[in-house]
Order: sequence, then structure tokens, then C-alpha cells
Amino acid sequence: MKVFIRKNYDEMSRYAAEIIVDLIKTKPNCVIGLATGGTPIGTYRELADFHRKGLDMSKVKTFNLDEYLGIGIDMKKSYESDQSYARFMYEELFKHVNIKKENIHIPNGLSKNPDKFCQWYEDEIKKAGGIDLQILGIGGNGHWAFNEPGASLYSRTRVEPLTKQTLDDNYDAFYKKAGIKRDKMPHFAITMGIGTILEARNLLMIANGKKKAKVVARALEGSVTSQVTASAIQLHSGESMVVLDKEASTELKNIEHYKHVEKILSIRSKNNQKISSDSSTV
Ligand code: GLP
Repeated sequence: MKVFIRKNYDEMSRYAAEIIVDLIKTKPNCVIGLATGGTPIGTYRELADFHRKGLDMSKVKTFNLDEYLGIGIDMKKSYESDQSYARFMYEELFKHVNIKKENIHIPNGLSKNPDKFCQWYEDEIKKAGGIDLQILGIGGNGHWAFNEPGASLYSRTRVEPLTKQTLDDNYDAFYKKAGIKRDKMPHFAITMGIGTILEARNLLMIANGKKKAKVVARALEGSVTSQVTASAIQLHSGESMVVLDKEASTELKNIEHYKHVEKILSIRSKNNQKISSDSSTV
């Protein structure tokens, strides 16, 4: 796991976007797992900026982590002003870039048979060749997607009931602003499982703000537990990257080590550039 600490939200967002752009440039038909919430909004804004400056995303496939059950939109038709993650994605990313509609996958909160849908979603991820890079935030209770405390670390895409804390956090951040009454907020969601997320070849977790400092430290440096499902990052066998702003990093114990690793990695990559221009070296 590599932890990168940036001065503020904008720099965190820029750095996270650069990681995604590097992947798109090396693999234009890559599969990206997308997240919602306030945290990735800046990253999506930066991606839109890269697109305006020429980044082509027409071959990129996307799979979103989750969606509230009972709401959603048909991306092919006009969108309604609801609080679905589908609408969020359209507003914050899809309408600003050239990802093709047929390459976008978001759990269908309006499915008539959610359990069957969840199996179909898993199959679609497999058919696409698996996820190359999964973007993740972290909930106030340490969840990834909507894998609430106690969710199995082997779990797959399924319907999950939301905890009171998640309902409170997400109500304040999104529903309240839209003037929606608390009892109208969905209490269930379709979510990729932790097992599904851990199969992504690369993970990119982002977090910002003082409010997240404790839970970030618990996830990255505490014991692995289903009570903090983001702690499953410690079980990931591929490349896991965590990009934080300074405020979200303040409770980490190994901060000096993370900074040191970043420094030596950048020295190594500069040296590698020199080496790779010398064709006689293996
Ligand atoms: C929701 C989403 C999560 C997200 C979390 C944090 O619960 N399902 O995927 O990580 O919110 O949101 P925010 O970035 O607004 O703190």
C-alpha cells in the first residue's frame, strides 16, 4: 500500500486524477470502478479538465460501486432531479467527458429483481475482464461503497441495509440540500461487495478533511475487521494507492515512512527513465 499526502483537497484531487489519466493513456480501453460522495467530485472535475485538453475516454468502461435501492435513472433517457448516484455521476462526470453510454454500468436501483441484477452485475464485471482501477472513498463509519460494519470481507454485489450513521451522513450531504424529507430517503442500497472490490487490480482510495482522519487511520493502520470494511485494503494483493489531504492524514502513525517511500519511489522512477533509454540494460 502506498500513501500519498497532498496539501489540500484540490491537490489531492489533481493527484488522484493524474493516476487515473496515466492508466487511460497506457490502456485506453481500461475498466475503471467509480465512486460517489463529496470526496471524488474534485477528481472528476480534474478528469473533465484533462478531457477538455484532449484526453480521449471513448474506450473506457466504467462500473459504479453502488446505488440506492428504489431510485435511479435511465441514462439513455433524460434524467430526473432525484438523489440517485446515477444522476450524481451524470452531473459530476459523464456529461463532461466522452465515455460512451454503452460503456457505463451503474447498479440499477429500480430493478424489479435486485438479487438477479446483482449476479448480472458481477458477470458483467467479469465479461469486461475485471476492474483495472477501483476508485474508493471512505464512509464516516469506515465503509467502502455501502459495505456497512459487519459486512463480510468476502461479500459480493448484493442488497445491503444502511446504518443510521450512513443515513445521517448522506442525508446531511445530499438529501437535505435537495429539500427531501428524511423518511423519503432509501434505507437500502445495491453495493459491490468487499470481495468484488478486492478483485480490482489496483485500488485508489481518496479521503479528505479532519472528519475522516480517525477512520482513515483505523482502516490503514488498525486491525483488519469487518467493523471497518475499508480495512480490507490491507488484504488487497494488487497495487493499492491512498491519496489523502493533509487534514485526513493527521492520525496516521507511519506518516514519516509514507513520505519516505514516496521520495524514494520518485528517485527510482527518475533513474528508471534513464535506464530505459539505455537499451543495453536489462
Ligand atoms: C457513500 C458512498 C461511499 C462513499 C461515502 C463517503 O456512503 N456509498 O462510496 O465513500 O459515501 O462519502 P463522502 O465522500 O461524501 O464523505
